[in-house]
Amino acid sequence: MTDRITIFDTTLRDGEQSPGMTMNHEEKMMVADVLDGMGVDVIEAGFAMSSQGDFDAVYGIAERAKNAVICSLARCKPADIERAGEAVRPAKRGRIHTFISTSDIHLKYQFKLTHEEVLPIITDMITLAGKYTDDIEWSAMDATRSDLDYLCRAVETAIAAGATTINLPDTVGYGTPDTIHEMFTYVMNKVPNTDKAVFSFHGQNDLGLATANTLAAIRAGARQAEVTINGIGERAGNTSLEEVVMALNVRKDVFDVACGVKTEHIMRASRLVQSITGQSVQVNKAIVGANAFAHESGIHQDGMLKHSGTYEIMTPESVGLTKSNLVMGKHSGRHAFRDKLKELGFELGDNAFEDAFARFKDLADKKKDIYDDDIIAIVDPRSAAEQRMQLISLGIHCGTGGPHVAKMVMLVDGKEETVEMEGNGPVDAIFKGLKGLIDGAENVKLKLYQVHAVTQGTDAQAEVTVRLDYDGTIVNGHGKDVDTLVASALAYIDALCKVEAVRNKPSLHQSQNTNDAA
Ligand code: KIV
Repeated sequence: MTDRITIFDTTLRDGEQSPGMTMNHEEKMMVADVLDGMGVDVIEAGFAMSSQGDFDAVYGIAERAKNAVICSLARCKPADIERAGEAVRPAKRGRIHTFISTSDIHLKYQFKLTHEEVLPIITDMITLAGKYTDDIEWSAMDATRSDLDYLCRAVETAIAAGATTINLPDTVGYGTPDTIHEMFTYVMNKVPNTDKAVFSFHGQNDLGLATANTLAAIRAGARQAEVTINGIGERAGNTSLEEVVMALNVRKDVFDVACGVKTEHIMRASRLVQSITGQSVQVNKAIVGANAFAHESGIHQDGMLKHSGTYEIMTPESVGLTKSNLVMGKHSGRHAFRDKLKELGFELGDNAFEDAFARFKDLADKKKDIYDDDIIAIVDPRSAAEQRMQLISLGIHCGTGGPHVAKMVMLVDGKEETVEMEGNGPVDAIFKGLKGLIDGAENVKLKLYQVHAVTQGTDAQAEVTVRLDYDGTIVNGHGKDVDTLVASALAYIDALCKVEAVRNKPSLHQSQNTNDAA
């Protein structure tokens, strides 16, 4: 019988903790829903002990996930394990993922523990985790730089204490496919109780080898792959979900394993993470890059016209890349709109459908041709309706010679306010004017301003991401409109509202304790 690979997604933990990838609670829920719907087996939803925000995210995802196992990371410390156990409690199936280093360099300089001191900690913490769940993962942090015989002793100890998944991470991205294969083969052959646990690999991409290393681990017998959407994560990132899943699908002949991820959902997940984080993938990124299915050279185009198999090893449709069809216009009705949503994989409740339909009609008044990607953008459930600040109108004076002036009428806490501001260009004028609406504006710093056209053509909707740093807390704001300046204002307002939310509901910031390094 073909073995099954467990896909363990850590976009919301290892991915989200990396610079510029911060997501707010609602955004994490959206990502979790997409992961759950696409057939990811385990969602590592956060590191419950690290902040109130992480705890709330794990708890919230545990409450709503329909299929996936929901997991929280925890250091090998009693308070971490208890907090993780509490956070995954509402899940249909909850997992605690606890870790401690096994490499000499980490133990000597960071943890200040000897080999012998670590083993009872592993036993005690896994035993404690067992009070909350019988689904326990233990990771040997920096496994790839650990002494192999000591690693075997630690793994045996963890399994004996009740760990059901053993993860051997390449924490610093040091492994190569051969060394990863050797490590798994060695440990799985030498440790006597390996039949009682599933082996897992967590790869970092420092040498650009994370996917190759993950596939090597699978070839050696690992049956869980730890991945993130778009490969986001610490430093050069983690192993990317889409690459591993498609490699397992396209090269079934090589790997002969089954995987439950519905590959047609990949593009949607990738785009959602790009849009939330404001971090676009490179155009030539495997599977999800803008050029991944583009054929430019004459010889390739000629082959493609004769038979797509000449230059395509997988179809764009298999990863959910629909041709951005011209779909609708202002005469399209509710029925056609609902059918289109269904085709694109969206099933909306009555209220959400009516909201999306109203946005569609509004867009169709401004833009003649509406494409699939426009519809996807419309359905984005992030709504401005409940924001404290809303844009009523925007007028701009710009062009050669200046001055560049933005005049905005705003609704702030239900009261109308007019702001007029001069700047170095229209965007600067808008942002300066809006910033003046909040207290403590001097602590707000712009970190990213990014404009992306949703479709082609000069009438395309602009999708703008703004990232602000407010006293060390990073928030992303998003806005969409056929007018790039309106989209910019909406994105800035969205980010400012998040700053206000952070200010009014303080949460513990992630602890800077070096033992947090995961
Ligand atoms: O990189 C790492 O080693 C980790 C572990 C906690 C799995 O993130």
